[in-house]
Amino acid sequence: MYLVAPTPINDYANTMFRREHLHSGWLDKCAAYLKQTFGDSLTGARVIDYGCGRGNWGLAFLRAGAEHVLAIDAAIDNVRRLEDYCRRNEISNIDIVHGDLLCRNIPSEPADIVWLYGVMHHVSRPLALLQALRDMAPGRDAQFYVYGYDAHSLRQFTVETARQLYPRPHEDAFRQESLALTRDARRRARDDLAAPHIDWYSAMTFAELLSGAGLEPVARPSGFETFLRGHSNQEFQPHEALCRGVPADGAMLWSEPERGYGDDLSVLSALAREVNFAVTDGPSRTRTALGLMNTHFANLGDGTSCADAIYEIFLYFLHVLDVHGGLGQAEGLGAEYIELAQAALADAPRGHLRAASRSSALVRRVVEQPIRL
Ligand SMILES: C[S@@+](CC[C@H](N)C(=O)[O-])C[C@H]1O[C@@H](n2cnc3c(N)ncnc32)[C@H](O)[C@@H]1O
Repeated sequence: MYLVAPTPINDYANTMFRREHLHSGWLDKCAAYLKQTFGDSLTGARVIDYGCGRGNWGLAFLRAGAEHVLAIDAAIDNVRRLEDYCRRNEISNIDIVHGDLLCRNIPSEPADIVWLYGVMHHVSRPLALLQALRDMAPGRDAQFYVYGYDAHSLRQFTVETARQLYPRPHEDAFRQESLALTRDARRRARDDLAAPHIDWYSAMTFAELLSGAGLEPVARPSGFETFLRGHSNQEFQPHEALCRGVPADGAMLWSEPERGYGDDLSVLSALAREVNFAVTDGPSRTRTALGLMNTHFANLGDGTSCADAIYEIFLYFLHVLDVHGGLGQAEGLGAEYIELAQAALADAPRGHLRAASRSSALVRRVVEQPIRL
């Protein structure tokens, strides 16, 4: 029997996973990605799946040929759901532990592979976590797959703006509010709005974390999204590194993902500041956050570019400011972009306006095309 305390991490885990099921075809896809990433070294391996969530990756490791998985999660309900699943499906070569390496050591046999997927950006002391995991896989040939959210991405902009407007909802509140979300937005919001903590790493901070923990990146795996779709979208390109825990031949420098919309983010940030001032009451701020998530995820399309999402977020912010009387209140850069947008709304000449001269693809689009809200 478990005593289920309503901890923030458990509430978050339930918001994310309570209604998620482990479909067999999906586990096969995860297993295929693991085989592509680890090749023959997977066969017979002992694996730690840290922050296992539903447990899909740990189960996929077993499907792909690993001998044993130690699945660890700080959320008791994740542990309970995975234990139930393994009992029902008679899966025995997995140990499932409720724990947090930032609070206590977890005794284990030395591991060959440490899998840290979707977790590092959610912990408050990532270096301490990496060091503890490295100690659990001390062998020369041990491999570490480390994943972290990418700073300066459009995803970071949207998630941080939405979290500022709608700070960390609890499960019951989120379920009600999520009625207004499209499915793609809802699936991301369950993680990115509900998470107690999120960090975003530049290439440099990511590389510093790895080297601080004694991990050397030796390969840059394609990432599961790219594996599934054949490409990734520039709105979000998490760092994914395959590392060794001992100085490795062929260790690589880490570089920023390619993206060309930094100037556009400056424009969106200027308007987001105005939105943040103009929308003051709680329910309106929540609605604005949800509308932002919808706008972002409904306009990504299937390609690699996120230019349409950026443009639609710009128009969405103008609409929010219009509704909340913020168009005339703006100052500084925000006021310049609003002046440009109002000229584009009226299809009036605008090439001479100050904001029109900025080197942003978004601004060029607003200069060249009339807009409708
Ligand atoms: C975004 S989910 C990722 C789950 C899984 N790895 C996946 O890829 O689907 C993050 C998971 O990390 C767990 N978690 C967060 N902080 C943790 C910590 N300090 N120790 C252990 N687990 C943690 C959460 O409970 C959650 O299940």
